[in-house]
Amino acid sequence: MKRHLIRYLLAFFAVLITGYSSRRPTTDFDATPRTTIAYNELSDVKRFSSKTVNYSVFLLEDEKGILYVGARGAIYSLNSSNIMDGSQRTIHWEATPEKQTECLKKGKNNKTECFNHIKLLQRFNETHLYVCGTYAFSPLCTYIDDHNFTLPSIFEEGKEKCPYDPSKGFTGLIIDGGLYTATRYEFRSLPDIRRNLYQRSLKTEESPVHWLNDADFVTSALVQESVNSTVGDDDKIYYFFMERTGEETSSFLDKTQVARVARICKSDLGGKKILQKKWTSFLKARLVCSIPYYEVLKSAYTLDTGRWDTTVFYAAFLLKWRNMEASAICQYSISDMQKVFEGPYMAYQPNSHKWVRFNDIIPEPRPGSCITNELRSTGFNSSLDLPSKVLDFLKIHTLMYEEVKPIGEQPLLMKKNMVYTRIAVDRVLALDGTQYDVLFIGTGDGWIHKAVVVKSIVHIIEEVQVFKNPQPVENLVISKRQKSIYVGAQSEVLQLPLSTCNRYVSCYDCILARDPYCGWDGETCREATQEDRLQMTQDMQNGNEGCLDVAAEAPVQKNRTVLKGDDVLLQCDLSSNLAKAQWVVNGTESLPDVESRFRVGIDGLLITDTLPEHSGEYSCYAEENGLQSLLAVYTLSVLMELPKEKVDLEPTMVIVQLPTAASQTSSDMEFVYISIITILGGLCFVLLVVLLYVSCLQKRKGTYMVGNSQATNVELQTVSSNFKDKSDRGLNSHPDGCLQIIPGEATPASPTKNTPPPPPPPPPLPSEFTNGIATLPNMLRKMNGNSYMLLGQNEESTSPLYNSFTEELSKFLEKRKRTQLVEKLDESSV
Ligand SMILES: *[C@@H]1O[C@H](CO)[C@@H](O)[C@H](O)[C@H]1NC(C)=O
Ligand SMILES: *[C@@H]1O[C@H](CO)[C@@H](O)[C@H](O)[C@H]1NC(C)=O
Ligand SMILES: *[C@@H]1O[C@H](CO)[C@@H](O)[C@H](O)[C@H]1NC(C)=O
Ligand SMILES: *[C@@H]1O[C@H](CO)[C@@H](O)[C@H](O)[C@H]1NC(C)=O
Ligand SMILES: *[C@@H]1O[C@H](CO)[C@@H](O)[C@H](O)[C@H]1NC(C)=O
Ligand SMILES: *[C@@H]1O[C@H](CO)[C@@H](O)[C@H](O)[C@H]1NC(C)=O
Ligand SMILES: *[C@@H]1O[C@H](CO)[C@@H](O)[C@H](O)[C@H]1NC(C)=O
Ligand SMILES: *[C@@H]1O[C@H](CO)[C@@H](O)[C@H](O)[C@H]1NC(C)=O
Ligand SMILES: *[C@@H]1O[C@H](CO)[C@@H](O)[C@H](O)[C@H]1NC(C)=O
Repeated sequence: MKRHLIRYLLAFFAVLITGYSSRRPTTDFDATPRTTIAYNELSDVKRFSSKTVNYSVFLLEDEKGILYVGARGAIYSLNSSNIMDGSQRTIHWEATPEKQTECLKKGKNNKTECFNHIKLLQRFNETHLYVCGTYAFSPLCTYIDDHNFTLPSIFEEGKEKCPYDPSKGFTGLIIDGGLYTATRYEFRSLPDIRRNLYQRSLKTEESPVHWLNDADFVTSALVQESVNSTVGDDDKIYYFFMERTGEETSSFLDKTQVARVARICKSDLGGKKILQKKWTSFLKARLVCSIPYYEVLKSAYTLDTGRWDTTVFYAAFLLKWRNMEASAICQYSISDMQKVFEGPYMAYQPNSHKWVRFNDIIPEPRPGSCITNELRSTGFNSSLDLPSKVLDFLKIHTLMYEEVKPIGEQPLLMKKNMVYTRIAVDRVLALDGTQYDVLFIGTGDGWIHKAVVVKSIVHIIEEVQVFKNPQPVENLVISKRQKSIYVGAQSEVLQLPLSTCNRYVSCYDCILARDPYCGWDGETCREATQEDRLQMTQDMQNGNEGCLDVAAEAPVQKNRTVLKGDDVLLQCDLSSNLAKAQWVVNGTESLPDVESRFRVGIDGLLITDTLPEHSGEYSCYAEENGLQSLLAVYTLSVLMELPKEKVDLEPTMVIVQLPTAASQTSSDMEFVYISIITILGGLCFVLLVVLLYVSCLQKRKGTYMVGNSQATNVELQTVSSNFKDKSDRGLNSHPDGCLQIIPGEATPASPTKNTPPPPPPPPPLPSEFTNGIATLPNMLRKMNGNSYMLLGQNEESTSPLYNSFTEELSKFLEKRKRTQLVEKLDESSV
């Protein structure tokens, strides 16, 4: 066990420390979403919010076209075909002021806890819903008539069914009139799996061994194992939760939480004398994903495949070690779970305080099993008939010896520096006749990752920023009928289409996306239907076959003219994070490696300190998954001097590259730029810098240093290229592209080029006299899975050259930074 663990840990460190470059097993340890869709690029989103918060409980009734939503102090009935069509019905159900005062007296938080948080929202019968709320630390439940949708005047005590504390994990299902809930109940916060309402009430056992140890519940699911069962099996309910471990005794692992799966039989009636009103079918097992003891179960999804024996469970885990975080998705089969529950038990040895494998004789019928035909035929008609020796055994042997391991014994997907909070899965029949599982995964900061499982590898199709303000995704529900996914969070409910195929503009784009909902019909990428299976192109297996037209779109054709010594950026914006730019100059494959003046960044080719011989034709190809497509062709002309009629125009800024000692940690000196910027009127400059400094002081972290502002020379240097901080992902991080300029140690300026005469005011120039710096895209996308950041740049060609010093300076800085970032990524990935 311990050796096992150490091996896992070593693997974990290898992964996290070397940034996965040294070892690359079948699972990519930091999967990259193919495309990134920021909040402002979203389309076709429907939003619903009202005056309240915490839209976290959903009940979708697809046939009726209704999505019920439980929030804080309210229940909504929304039209599932369009949640914002204004036809919603609302039940306000707030805790009374007296209850809130009482709650305050209990020392609870009046901002979060002393409200009526709806926790349970389930269909009870044809006419009524059953609802429970925390009701300011004093839970209540009630039946709601779905026809007139009003709050009734009669309530039921809820403490057996609902937690007091809204932050406690809760899961509840109504199955055949029985209410199955699992949470920490009452003031003492004791964890329990209970059945209430219709059938005989049942609980878990507390003595002599707690069946549940500080459990925090995540979810539960019914699996109808009785359907077409040849052995007359019972339906089972599976519970997913975290729990304090009992079976490990190593001191450093004490009190660690482990993930568990437990199950009970639906027809359980409890024991007659022993385990009276207690489950006689409760069994639990470890659920492992990638690094045991360091993973926290965040969400689980049960994929109903139409037959119970092919049921698949998906689970999202958060892996934590020191300040490192990663998320993992694992996939489990019900047959693996069954094997574990039918395998050996664990036994507790009180003397050594150890859990060990139970090797003695197991009583018959097998403890914890459901009542089957075989048992019925031997006289055990229900759990009430079970013999005492079986129940006595079960009382102290509810933990299974084996662990439930994921399919393939490893995670399907891992993602560094990401918290996955919720997962939902849709099984889609693709055009190749195969079914693919599409995962929708919500993150802790309000994004949705959409991924597809192809041959036990996960391909993340896209990541979509669905909430402007970062907030955890708390619920995800898929409606096949509405072709929508509903997202619940603190601030609102969203309805998103399952696919947005028209985002893919070319056949290649459509194929490379590997979105099983989408296909290329010869003209557009659109929703694939089985009817036009023959006409449409899709390649789920490889993601690169079937497109006939090599150049689907005409590439961008542009002329660029610059002066000798200028820097020029030839923009080539790859829409896919998985694509690599390939530049071809004058028709030959490779870039001339002239003193490393060429650098390929994620958004283009930067040529620094241009010389006339750099003129030529530059073509940018996007290379992805073995496919190449031409995106842009530039004709670059480097002039010795400006054309005659513009001879009086001097550039306002002369950028001079200086040799420098390696001051960066990087092995190459080439990242280090020391540039002297000579400027018009020294006084003017100081004023501008001060202005900029003051206005941007609070806006960003010190990423750049600009040298001593009193000197006429400044040093531009990237201090940190590590943008791992999550806050940098948000759209509102750098809304104005401001730079913080802080005094730094500027190296003395080179004497070579010094203080040119003050140039005339900036003249307008023909738009082709731009060096491309103004044409950066609005958002810097994904950078090898590490970071994002935003650039608030002007749109293409609207800004004339040499607008103002500050603008030019900030553009220059950004350009440098971005180009350096790309080259330094591998070092920042730890
Ligand atoms: C409800 O929302 C508030 C903020 O809007 C948040 O602080 C709180 O944790 C949420 N409560 C639950 C139970 O989700
Ligand atoms: C929901 O909206 C659709 C289309 O707007 C409409 O046809 C349908 O009747 C509505 N359903 C309900 C339950 O109001
Ligand atoms: C919560 O309690 C604090 C201090 O007791 C009080 O200042 C605040 O107004 C209360 N807030 C609400 C919403 O009642
Ligand atoms: C559903 O349950 C409610 C509450 O117990 C009851 O009043 C109602 O008559 C039931 N409806 C049907 C159709 O059984
Ligand atoms: C809601 O409808 C039920 C029967 O459909 C009725 O008994 C009840 O009084 C109605 N409630 C209100 C508030 O109208
Ligand atoms: C059960 O068996 C019937 C008849 O063989 C079949 O039609 C049905 O699809 C089966 N159901 C499941 C869930 O396997
Ligand atoms: C089980 O049920 C059968 C038929 O319903 C009955 O004959 C038998 O006595 C029952 N056995 C017990 C132990 O109750
Ligand atoms: C680029 O310049 C060439 C000749 O210099 C001209 O024929 C062509 O139209 C120009 N292209 C663009 C896109 O301006
Ligand atoms: C491209 O070809 C032109 C002439 O055809 C030549 O002047 C130029 O130097 C070449 N550019 C590069 C980068 O080789």
